[in-house]
Amino acid sequence: MSEPMTYARYLALDELLSSQKPLSDRHDELLFIVIHQTKELWLKEIIHEVGLAKRLIEEGDLEPAYKALARVSRIQTIMTLSWDVLATMTPADYLSFRETLGTSSGFQSHQFRTLEYLLGLKDDSFLRFHAERPEALAELKGALEAPSLYDVAIAQLPKHGLSVPDTVLKRDVAQAYAPSPEVEAAWLEVYRDTKRYWELYQLAEKLVDLDDALVTWRHKHVLTVERIIGGRPGTGGTDGAGYLAKTLQRRCFPELWSLRTKL
Ligand code: HEM
Repeated sequence: MSEPMTYARYLALDELLSSQKPLSDRHDELLFIVIHQTKELWLKEIIHEVGLAKRLIEEGDLEPAYKALARVSRIQTIMTLSWDVLATMTPADYLSFRETLGTSSGFQSHQFRTLEYLLGLKDDSFLRFHAERPEALAELKGALEAPSLYDVAIAQLPKHGLSVPDTVLKRDVAQAYAPSPEVEAAWLEVYRDTKRYWELYQLAEKLVDLDDALVTWRHKHVLTVERIIGGRPGTGGTDGAGYLAKTLQRRCFPELWSLRTKL
């Protein structure tokens, strides 16, 4: 006879709660692990929701996609807030166990890169960090080689009578997206006549919510990093806060930002 379902069994609590394995005897290392694992769980959920939103948008079913995208934005808010919990760890607390991390770094989070790829920030130079984890690599490659959330949103523009060149619609989606004046012009029309293009306008603003929240998360990361390790290099091999500050320039949906100057 099968075992009755219990709270612990349903949530695999024994596996979950035995997956925090500090390498030092330092009190704060547990917080450091929990924050990172929580982030990976939230990333898993975000990837799940963005996948749904992409499928819905591809089918032209925009309204249900808004719901998935709104959920993503709210999860991003929680992820950004969690920096304040981590910032209760002082430089002295962190430095007391930092050596045990070796060369590991959030830089190597395949789910973070999967999310970047899903949103449209394609850069295949990150694949090499995952050679030893075939399943993670497959997920990452799948996201690299598939149209991004932005690709499928742009593909909706012609369906509403707006013009987008074939060079954009048939682009090699594994390559970094290059902003296009024609795509900007199409989105501009949407923003200039919101009544007529209400569905696309709402979609565009939901996308901007995601981009905004991602940059806000990145910003709090740099600030927390500066607060905890100052100008030290990162464990993942970059120059640290300097590298992270440059990532603040990344935008997943560039024309949705640039059009605002021309409105
Ligand atoms: C003491 C706390 C932390 C420090 C000092 C820190 C530092 C850094 C540094 C310096 C980098 C650049 C890569 C490198 O050289 O390592 C980095 C990347 C990254 N970290 Fe952190 N980090 C901390 C906590 C976290 C936490 C809690 C998360 C997730 C919740 C996180 C997620 C990431 C991600 C996703 C990247 C890649 C960013 C990108 O390439 O755009 N980090 N971190």
